[in-house]
Amino acid sequence: MKLGKTKWCLLSAAAAAAVLGGCGRPAEPESEQASENIVIGFSQVGAESDWRVANSESMYATFTEEKGYDLLFDNAQQKPENQIAAIRTFILQGVDYIVLAPIIESGWDEILTEVKDAGIPVIVVDRMVNTEDESLYTAWVGSDTYWEGETAVGWLEDYLQEQGRQEEEISILHVQGTTGATPQLGRTAGLDEGILQNENWSLTGRVEGEFTQAKAYEEVAEFLKSGSKVDVIYCENDNSAFGAMQALDEAGISYGEDGDVIIISFDATRAGLTACMEGRINLNVECNPLHGPRVEKIISQLEAGESPEKHSYVEETYFTPDSLTPEFIEQRQY
Ligand code: AHR
Repeated sequence: MKLGKTKWCLLSAAAAAAVLGGCGRPAEPESEQASENIVIGFSQVGAESDWRVANSESMYATFTEEKGYDLLFDNAQQKPENQIAAIRTFILQGVDYIVLAPIIESGWDEILTEVKDAGIPVIVVDRMVNTEDESLYTAWVGSDTYWEGETAVGWLEDYLQEQGRQEEEISILHVQGTTGATPQLGRTAGLDEGILQNENWSLTGRVEGEFTQAKAYEEVAEFLKSGSKVDVIYCENDNSAFGAMQALDEAGISYGEDGDVIIISFDATRAGLTACMEGRINLNVECNPLHGPRVEKIISQLEAGESPEKHSYVEETYFTPDSLTPEFIEQRQY
């Protein structure tokens, strides 16, 4: 059922769904449009964070009709099963490439085997997939979230030392992202290693923030009711840091540069950097969402018959209040 690229016909999502629904014979396409464009089926995680919105915008801005692309965008709403359904639809629609931003790392072997059998290259972006067989995807591009976690922990060691607090008992509240997602695994590994290496650090709580402000707020507000000591809140993205800060505000607990609780965050979005410049977030480790041009480069290489790098990491940095200016934040793309 895969349709040729040069005379690609758009099988509408509704018609594809009818085929997937198991009708006796393939449904007739509701509408067919001849297209010379490169057709990309993009399965996106959701719209859970500012980072994710910037990532989607980067894909939309890159894969435009003017540049010769048709982008079929599917928002999985943070549900892995939605990603699998979207990918099956992309196969039926006969796309030229599937771009996958996986919610979690596991559970991909079966569906990616179906994609491979259909002869469609898969480009994985942002988070990683953990497959038995690496030939199930063509290339991956994203962040080194293990580096991000190690960087945050290295900064905290130095910061406590500067403050003369290196011997003090430090209680850390950990607001985790979606369980099993690459940024959760990498950033959590960094923190766990830091706790192992520093005898005076301990985890006072670990809650699931799911990378959203609402969930992080709810979980941190509940945790704070216990009255447990908290010196550091390690938030696995900016939106969960916003939720944690909201809960601290309501509980009347000070935080940031001049406060009682050190806030660590990841992403370095404009809103996250603004909070950092204002001294409300002590450290913000960058995670760059502008993957559209990076995925386009991989597709161009494939179109030219070249072999892209299997894994490409984006270079990133980190920010503290004294390293930021309004001009820098203003000119930032996300
Ligand atoms: O996978 C990237 C992470 O997912 C970002 O840190 C977070 O904001 C997003 O939701």
